[in-house]
Amino acid sequence: MSVNSPFLEAELFSVAPMVDVTNSAFRRVARVFTKRAMLYTEMIAAEALCHGKTNLIKHAGNELPCVLQLGGSDPRRLALAAKIGEDFGYSCINLNAGCPSDKVQQGRFGAVLMKDPDLIGQCVSAMMNAVSIPVSVKTRIGVDEFDNEDFTRYLIGTIFGYGCRHVIIHARKCWLEGLSPKENRTVPPLDYDRVYNLKNDFPDLNITINGGITDLCQCVIHLNHVEGVMLGRAVIDNPYLLAGVDHELFGDDAPVKSREQCFYELLDLAETFLSEGHKLQHLAIHVLNLFAGCPGARNYRRYLSEHMTQEHAGVEVLEKAYAAMQ
Ligand SMILES: Cc1cc2nc3c(=O)[nH]c(=O)nc-3n(C[C@H](O)[C@H](O)[C@H](O)COP(=O)(O)O)c2cc1C
Repeated sequence: MSVNSPFLEAELFSVAPMVDVTNSAFRRVARVFTKRAMLYTEMIAAEALCHGKTNLIKHAGNELPCVLQLGGSDPRRLALAAKIGEDFGYSCINLNAGCPSDKVQQGRFGAVLMKDPDLIGQCVSAMMNAVSIPVSVKTRIGVDEFDNEDFTRYLIGTIFGYGCRHVIIHARKCWLEGLSPKENRTVPPLDYDRVYNLKNDFPDLNITINGGITDLCQCVIHLNHVEGVMLGRAVIDNPYLLAGVDHELFGDDAPVKSREQCFYELLDLAETFLSEGHKLQHLAIHVLNLFAGCPGARNYRRYLSEHMTQEHAGVEVLEKAYAAMQ
């Protein structure tokens, strides 16, 4: 059995994989705020990569470090997709074993895999054998009727037994039927202790905790118990939160950039982005909440959302949105 242990420094803090959000444009925006955090792709179906759809995983090099998240349940296909990801320069590969959407269940991957921990183990083992970069699994504490402490220990223990040394755990179970993916992110209660307790049984396992974390103070508390924290929706709601990560969590000397400083750097990024032939809206959508909580934020957001989709929208749309706050 090969053991895959590296836990990269960046994984102290990561931004969660989110379909339709954490694409390349999002990650370029995120890099204005943090150089140190680990970023993720959206979930990419392993089958799509095996069929040559590698345009799905193109990235601008300066988005790294970044984890490619794969969905699938066929160890050989996942291994091939992982190798493609490694060749594209991704820092790590992650297997999605926690996403409960119908589409994903039909493909027999995501959260449904939790009902077959050995299959998760076989998948991750095949992926680890195919690449020389770290491979992790993202899962939850339970699924349907499998939701007690013993099950969580069995699930994680099985993955550990196959040699995987990093799991990301969303600290709530999911219901495969009866709840929408969105409800599955709010209705089942969070149980952080269930995740913390795993450290007693698996001291050599690197654990990243996820679910409901909304600020960096909470991150510090979690980091007293586990190796990494992962935030998703909090970053959508307030991308500026990322600006504090390098200083406050990674201990960098450089002071935290102001929102204004970030905004001016985003203007430069937008220039580059447009010059590459992209549309402004694909970048601007990730900064609609840049001024969340500030006076005039609503005017900024309204102006930007109304104008960013216009044909030929340029950097001036961002500038005018900013001016609308005053
Ligand atoms: C819009 C959206 C899309 C998501 N897509 C994925 C995905 O592709 N893969 C995945 O593992 N989790 C996905 N998730 C779940 C998040 O990665 C994360 O586990 C969840 O939102 C809980 O973390 P949070 O409370 O910090 O948001 C998604 C969540 C959201 C809100």
